[in-house]
Amino acid sequence: MRIGVIGAGSMGGILARHLASLGHHVSIANSRGPESLTALAAELGATPASVVDAAKAAEVVILAIPTKAVADLPRGLFAGVPSSVVVIDIGNYHPELRDGHIDAIDRGMLDSQWVAQQIGHPVIKAFNNIFAESLLEKGVSRGTSGRIALSVYGDSSGAKAGVLRLVDDLGFDPVDGGVLDNSWRQQPGTPAYCRDLEAAALRRALAEADRSRIAEYRAEQEARIRRSLGHES
Ligand SMILES: NC(=O)c1ccc[n+]([C@@H]2O[C@H](COP(=O)([O-])OP(=O)(O)OC[C@H]3O[C@@H](n4cnc5c(N)ncnc54)[C@H](OP(=O)(O)O)[C@@H]3O)[C@@H](O)[C@H]2O)c1
Repeated sequence: MRIGVIGAGSMGGILARHLASLGHHVSIANSRGPESLTALAAELGATPASVVDAAKAAEVVILAIPTKAVADLPRGLFAGVPSSVVVIDIGNYHPELRDGHIDAIDRGMLDSQWVAQQIGHPVIKAFNNIFAESLLEKGVSRGTSGRIALSVYGDSSGAKAGVLRLVDDLGFDPVDGGVLDNSWRQQPGTPAYCRDLEAAALRRALAEADRSRIAEYRAEQEARIRRSLGHES
C-alpha cells in the first residue's frame, strides 16, 4: 500500500519504519521539508516527501503531528483527495503542555472530530493510546500470549477495517471501538489510555470510561506527564 506519514518525530518515525518493513511504500513529511529528512527517511526505509505529496500520493495518510499543528497544515490539503483515502489521526490534545487551548475541544468537541473538521476529511482514530516505546518494541505475532490490543474508532466500517488490519500486521490485537463519537474512550487519561492491555482488559477499560470526565482525565494525564518530567513533586 502507499502510505503517507505526516510527522517524522517519535510516533511518525516508528510507524514509518514498521510499515516500510512490512513492505508498504511509505512517504514521510515534516514541517521543514523533504531535504531535512533525507538521512532519516533512508534509515527508516521511507521516501522523504513534502506534506502535500505525502497527503496526495497515498491510500492511507497518517497524521503524526501535535494537535495544534493540524491547524497549520496547508489550506485545502485534502481538498482533491478521494474520499476512499483513509486518514488516521494518532494525535492527543495537550492544552497545557504543548498545544495551547483550542476552544472547540475545550467546549466538548472530541480531539479527532476537531481534526476531521480542520482537514475537511473523515478520520479514523488509532495509535493515540500507545506510547512510542511500546509501539517500537512490543508488537508480536498474532496468537502470542500477552499480545497488546489497540482500539480503533471511526465512522466508515470499510476504512476502519483497513486500519484494524494494519494494527494486526504491526503486532497488536485489533479492537473495533465503534464510531468516532465514542473515541473519547481512548483520549488522554482515560482508564484504557496507554496501558498496554490485552484485548479483554482493553474492552473493559474502554467501557469503564465516563464521558462527563473527559476534561478531568486529560488534566490528570497532563499532571502525570509533568510529574514524570520532574516539573512538579
Ligand atoms: N510520543 C508518544 O508516545 C505518543 C503516543 C501516542 C500519540 N502521540 C501523539 O502523536 C502525535 C505526534 O507525537 P510525537 O511524539 O511523534 O511528536 P514529535 O516527536 O514532537 O514529532 C512531531 C512531528 O510533527 C512534525 N510537524 C509539526 N508541525 C508540523 C506541520 N505543520 N506540518 C508537518 N509536520 C509537522 C514535526 O516536524 P518538524 O520537526 O519539522 O517540525 C515532527 O516531525 C502527537 O499528537 C502526540 O500527542 C504521541
